[in-house]
This record gives sequence, C-alpha cells and structure tokens, in this order.
Amino acid sequence: MARHLITSAIPYINGIKHLGNLVGSQLPADLYARYLRGRGHEVLFLCATDEHGTPAELAAAKAGKPVDQYCAEMWKVQDALGQGFRLSFDHFGRSSSPQNHRLTQHFAGKLHEAGLIEEVTEKQVYSNADGRFLPDRYIEGTCPNCGYDKARGDQCENCTKQLDPTDLIEPRSAISGSTDLEVRETKHLYLRQSQMRDRLNAWIDAKTDWPILTTSIARKWLNDGDGLQDRGITRDLDWGIPVKRGDEDWPGMEGKVFYVWFDAPIEYIACAQEWQDAGKGENWERWWRTDKGAEDVRYTQFMGKDNVPFHTLSFPATILGSGEPWKLVDYIKSFNYLNYDGGQFSTSQGRGVFMDQALELLPADYWRWWLLSHAPESSDAEFTWENFQAGANKDLADVLGNFVSRVTKFCRSKFGEVVPEAGRQGPDETALIETLTTRIRAYESHMEAIEVRKSASELRAIWVAGNEYLQEAAPWATFKEDPERAAMQIRFALNLARLYAVLSRPFIPDAAATLLDALKTGDDSWPDDVAAALETLKPGHAFEVPQNLFVKITDENVEEWKSRFAGQRG
Ligand code: MF3
Ligand code: ZN
Repeated sequence: MARHLITSAIPYINGIKHLGNLVGSQLPADLYARYLRGRGHEVLFLCATDEHGTPAELAAAKAGKPVDQYCAEMWKVQDALGQGFRLSFDHFGRSSSPQNHRLTQHFAGKLHEAGLIEEVTEKQVYSNADGRFLPDRYIEGTCPNCGYDKARGDQCENCTKQLDPTDLIEPRSAISGSTDLEVRETKHLYLRQSQMRDRLNAWIDAKTDWPILTTSIARKWLNDGDGLQDRGITRDLDWGIPVKRGDEDWPGMEGKVFYVWFDAPIEYIACAQEWQDAGKGENWERWWRTDKGAEDVRYTQFMGKDNVPFHTLSFPATILGSGEPWKLVDYIKSFNYLNYDGGQFSTSQGRGVFMDQALELLPADYWRWWLLSHAPESSDAEFTWENFQAGANKDLADVLGNFVSRVTKFCRSKFGEVVPEAGRQGPDETALIETLTTRIRAYESHMEAIEVRKSASELRAIWVAGNEYLQEAAPWATFKEDPERAAMQIRFALNLARLYAVLSRPFIPDAAATLLDALKTGDDSWPDDVAAALETLKPGHAFEVPQNLFVKITDENVEEWKSRFAGQRG
C-alpha cells in the first residue's frame, strides 16, 4: 500500500466559497482521498484557510471587526461548510497559525542564506490618513484616458487601460477616501526566481504525465519573455507574517509582512504540523521531508487553473531554493471554471450558488454528484438548474435510488427483511459479473488517473447495468413460477446494492453510509474479486429497507430556486 499526500488549494478567508470554487479543488481532492482510503492506502489530506493579504484586512474592516477575530470566525464558518459537504480533510488548518509563521520565516532565512533574496527600494503611495502604504488597486481616481471617476491605480475598469497610480487625476485612498497621499520610498524583498528557471524547466519537462492544462500554463509562464521574473515577497501591511529570517529580525524590514502568496503554499507543510500538534497524528515530517520518509510519498495537488503558476513555479522555487530536502509535488490536477447560468460565478457580485445556500436546499450528495460528474476538466462547464435537476433525478433517484428501493422492498414483501436462501446463480448473473468486472477495473483506472468525469460515467454505467439486470431478471415475475430462482436473484441484487455503496462512497458518502447501515454490514471491502464481493451478504443475513435514498427535484423546486438565485446574494 502506498502513502498519499493530498492538498487542495487553500481558500481565501474572506467570504463563503461558491460551487465553482468547490468543484475546482476541494471536492475533487476529497473524491480522490476517499477513493484511495477505500483502496486501503495511507492518506494525509490537508486543506486550510488562506488568511493574509489586503482582501482579508478590508473584509474585516467592512465587517467592523479586528482582522484576527474576523479570520477566526470565518475559519469556523468555512470549517463547518466543509464538514457539511463531507470534505474529509485530515486537518483543516489556518495559514495564520504559529506553525506557518515559523516555517515561513524559516524558508525566508534559507533563501537568504542561499543568496536568492534581493533587497529593493521602491516608491509607493502612502496614505497619511490611513497610516499605511496603499496597494495600487486601493488607490482610486479619475481615468486620464476616459474620465471614469472610479478608475483603480492598476487599471481603469471602464476603458480597460492599464494605469500607474500616478496617472490618476485626483487620486484618493479607496479605503478612507482621503486625498492626503504622498509617494514614499520603501524597501522590499525579492525572491530571485529567475535564477531557477533552468531547474524549474527541467523539472516541468520531466512531468510528461501531467494534464496539459497544468503544463501548458507552467510553460507559458516559464518561457514567455517576462515569465518567471523575480517577485516581491514582502508587503507594507499590518496583517500577515512578520518579515524575519529564521528567528532573527531582518534589518530594514521592521513592520513589514510576507506577501500572502509567499506564505500560503508553505501552509501546506505547516498544516501537517498543525495536524500533529492537534493530536491527530504523529511524525509529520515523514510526509514532507524526503530525508525522513517522504521519498515514498506520492504528493498530489488540486487547484483551479488560475492557481497553476503559483504551484508550478513560485512554490517549487521556494522549496528548491531552500536547499533542504522538502517534498516536491508529484502530480498537479488543475481545473477550468464552472460557469453559472450563462455567466460567471462571482464572489464580489454575489452571483451563483454559494456553499451555505446549496446545503440549505439539498443534502451534500446531490451537489457532490452533479458537480463531480460535470467537473470542468477539458473545458469550462456550466451549471444550470435544469441540468442539475435532470442529472440528479436521473442518475441518483431513477437509477441508483430506484434500484435499491425495488430490491429491498420486494424482498421484504416476499421473503422478509433477510437475505433469501434458496437458488443457484445462472448465466445471467455470470454475465453481469463479467460486465461489472470490466467496468469496475475501468472505474479504478479513471480514479487513479484522476479523470473525474470519466470516473462518474463509469460509476453511472455500473448502476445502470444493475438496473438492467433487475429489469430483465424481473424477480416479481419469476417469483410466481420459480420462487427459488427469485430468491437467488434478490440475494444477488442485495449484494449488488452493497457493492454500489462501496463503489459510490467517494462520490456520495452519505447515501453510501445509509445504504451500508440499512444492509447492516460493516464489510466495506473493495471488490477486487467481483464474484466474491457479490456473496458478501450471506443467506439469512438481516437488513432493513432504507429510507428513500434520494427524492426527486421537482419543476416547482427549479422554478423557485431559479428566481431566488436570479439576483445577487443579499
Ligand atoms: N487562496 C488562493 C485562491 O483561492 C489559493 C491559495 S493556494 C496556496 O485562489 F498554494 F497558496 F496555498
Ligand atoms: Zn478609463
């Protein structure tokens, strides 16, 4: 059995994530983690909140709360929603943890010792009223090009012209509105990533099995004229990890913090320490240090396509540059975007369905199934209410739910709530075992290749095959002439239901658990041998007819939800 380290891109702390965010990293990561655990592998699955940076500061200010308190509260909200969606993280950490503070400062120290950090003096706009430097996008003014009066210091949203804060007419702070601004000199640290271009190129070149989406983005950034520039890794902000090298102060960097994109990926490592410190496991370094056991770990990262440059270039540059034996990622699975009903999901505009809202409408399994079976892998995908209704009703209610309900209820009415005894399997059963064996092996290889949609299609086909068998075997008809044969068919179908619970669990963990409970079995072993797996529930084994696994989404539901979600989130 192998050891698998799995991380999902860590979501920003400010605000609740929408379904597009969910399907772009946390949900497929969970699918993979659950599948590997189901196959008996040792898995460490980590995620956290990404808590630093100006957006967090501003969101806290807007909420009228100190930023640390705001983050602590939002962490709880995101943690609860993750549990609501059954995201099976071994630990859900925080990039603001003391562990991450220490580790981020440690990396900075190592990079400094390796001569990879440069100190650069720059000019930046300072707001006297706010008592702080302003990032370009937090300076507003009138566009010199089109006269739009809410142009940002980096770009005019109206005419799209790229701007410099000093281009703006009557510039003001977007935070306080103050016009008392001045240009001041300030010193920052730059990571000399350009020195690592050859090493990174060679590293990416060796990743011939990576998804094209991942490698094409990485190559573009590596080889485009100004790709892989040295990048600033510090900011003039209050909220963040204080700039130090190891435990030592960094002369000239007092009052500054690391840039959020420098410390966030380091949290993947710190999170394993948090996991250990929370008493959930031990020896975290055996997951992360190749000198301490991590050479046999397979590390897989999940993320949306906008995150790829940070994971293929910046974070590896930090790790390689440190000169220490940290584990590098083995496989990066990246996703396109999920759109919402003819447009984009948008957090800033409150457009689309957000994680908290989704769970108010329906249990997690409906969303998990639809989102994963429509994962935006080879291209962007689109959520519409009609498509969601059709997918959930057909696959979950008509196929899987209906199969389970017919088999268990028919058994109860003719044989009672026990697995019937009589009858020997015939050619129809043998044929189905063969079909299922082929399909289950295909399902396994799609799961191992993290082909999410293909895995879902294969699972659906596995459910359909059982339904077709039941339709043809028609035990309700057989029962009249040959009750022994009907008994065998039902025994076989009940075992099939158990098999479905085991196979489906990575996609729909709640329904799978309900089904295993109803079948009163703790045997959730993977069907390496399908024929044997279909004899797990022995004659005489008692079960209970489960409650309906899935209810159908009605046209009225769809109408109501459509209008409820037509506007903006209130
Ligand atoms: N918070 C970022 C986002 O949601 C992802 C950070 S991933 C990490 O896009 F690598 F920085 F951890
Ligand atoms: Zn303009």
